[in-house]
Amino acid sequence: MIDLQIADKVHDEARQGEAVLLELPKKPDARKLYIESYGCAMNFADSEIVASILSDTGFDTTDDYHQADVIFINTCSIRENAETRVRNRLSQFSAVKRKNPKLIVGVLGCMAERLKSKFLEEERLVDVVVGPDAYRDLPNLIEQVETGQKAVNVLLSRDETYADISPVRLNSNGITAFISITRGCNNMCSFCVVPFTRGRERSRSAHSIVAEAAQLFNEGYREVTLLGQNVDSYLWKSEDESEQVNFARLLEQTAQINPLLRVRFSTSHPKDITDEVLHTIAKYNNICNYIHLPVQSGNSRILELMNRTYTREWYINRIEAIRKIIPGCAISTDIIAGFCTETEEDHQDTLSIMDYVEYDFAYNFTYSERPGTLAARKLTDDIPEEVKKRRLAEILAKQQAHSLTKLQTWVGKTINVLIEGTSKKSDKDLRGRGDSGAMVVFPANGNIKPGDYVNVLIEKCTSATLLGKLVL
Ligand code: SAH
Ligand code: SF4
Ligand code: F3S
Repeated sequence: MIDLQIADKVHDEARQGEAVLLELPKKPDARKLYIESYGCAMNFADSEIVASILSDTGFDTTDDYHQADVIFINTCSIRENAETRVRNRLSQFSAVKRKNPKLIVGVLGCMAERLKSKFLEEERLVDVVVGPDAYRDLPNLIEQVETGQKAVNVLLSRDETYADISPVRLNSNGITAFISITRGCNNMCSFCVVPFTRGRERSRSAHSIVAEAAQLFNEGYREVTLLGQNVDSYLWKSEDESEQVNFARLLEQTAQINPLLRVRFSTSHPKDITDEVLHTIAKYNNICNYIHLPVQSGNSRILELMNRTYTREWYINRIEAIRKIIPGCAISTDIIAGFCTETEEDHQDTLSIMDYVEYDFAYNFTYSERPGTLAARKLTDDIPEEVKKRRLAEILAKQQAHSLTKLQTWVGKTINVLIEGTSKKSDKDLRGRGDSGAMVVFPANGNIKPGDYVNVLIEKCTSATLLGKLVL
């Protein structure tokens, strides 16, 4: 993965699964929960829901799993290496469990859903296995484990959206937050495990989304990212169907909360992104000019085998529409190298579509066959690992060059930056993002603070960061 910090958790995590500890405000004598999340931003958002549910039953978090009464690991199944990381982590927890047999270890999320009770046979230290739609049941499941039984709930739901649960904002910078707008996915991309681990797509009530965004704004947050596997298919209807809200309308309602609230979203699907959405982005200054539009492959035959339901030409047409309606809009992508039957010519098509689009950022992977998916059942994973890796390296090298070119175009220009915090390298510098998502670092001045918008003149760039100075 290219270390372009743009879409931070939204993309980094979806793509590589990195552990992040979540912390709750402390209550004396509370039982202690240690929770670690892997996978996409939706999993991180889910951990905040889990923390909220457990906080109601008297749990505090701890950042030291040796102190925990309950250890939860919220897992990802997207690629084999995501699952390997979780298994390695579980073996580290087993040492603690040997010393403290009362410790409860739970597996949540997509791997729990994929493996179900098999997990209990494979990983003997695990006490509880809970799928993404069953978190309301966690307090009961913990009670069950306390009576000496193992506990499993992996029921998927057609309507659970946790709309009424106010997530406990954990590990937050107080400025940017995620809001899940849909759960599940109705597409059947042949490589993808998500429809199996997350179930059918459902849209959360527009009222609850807008209310959550407005509350965040009132608490001082200045940016929300609306999350779904395919945000363009968002469609919420009131019970009597008198009210219908599609994604364009939801974006608009969120943007109208306050011009100082930035709105981002992820992920857009090339087959579903409409001109209406593009015009809405263009109409509101506070909807960021940045679209994550995963192409996966630049070759129409491979796209068909992937069941992505668009062609190279269709994708290019959507890029043209973005360029026309939102000039200068930043675009990023996901690419899979070495999907079943991919030839060198097919791979060249991926490189050439990258040249055509010149993505600002890209998240690139080698194909990893996932059990139970359409591709695993119908196609042969026939590209040797070293060929996949070489193709990936070519994709990465091209993207690095494009990212640098894109960043260099900012040098000499002024960017309106939302300050997110101090720079990781020096607390004399502040860090924030422009509309396009590029990270901007600049020297602090006593009067400005996180949450403020400032203009920064860009003087130079590194491979991932723009460096500049304040323009007053
Ligand atoms: N809903 C999003 C993708 C979510 S998964 C979309 O449709 O774009 C994030 C990314 O992981 C995907 O875009 C894809 O590039 C990658 N991915 C998914 N399954 C994979 C697999 N089996 N092997 C390698 N990469 C995969
Ligand atoms: Fe997976 Fe495709 Fe759904 Fe994305 S749109 S989550 S890749 S099935
Ligand atoms: Fe992973 Fe599940 Fe997200 S498989 S990418 S955590 S939806």
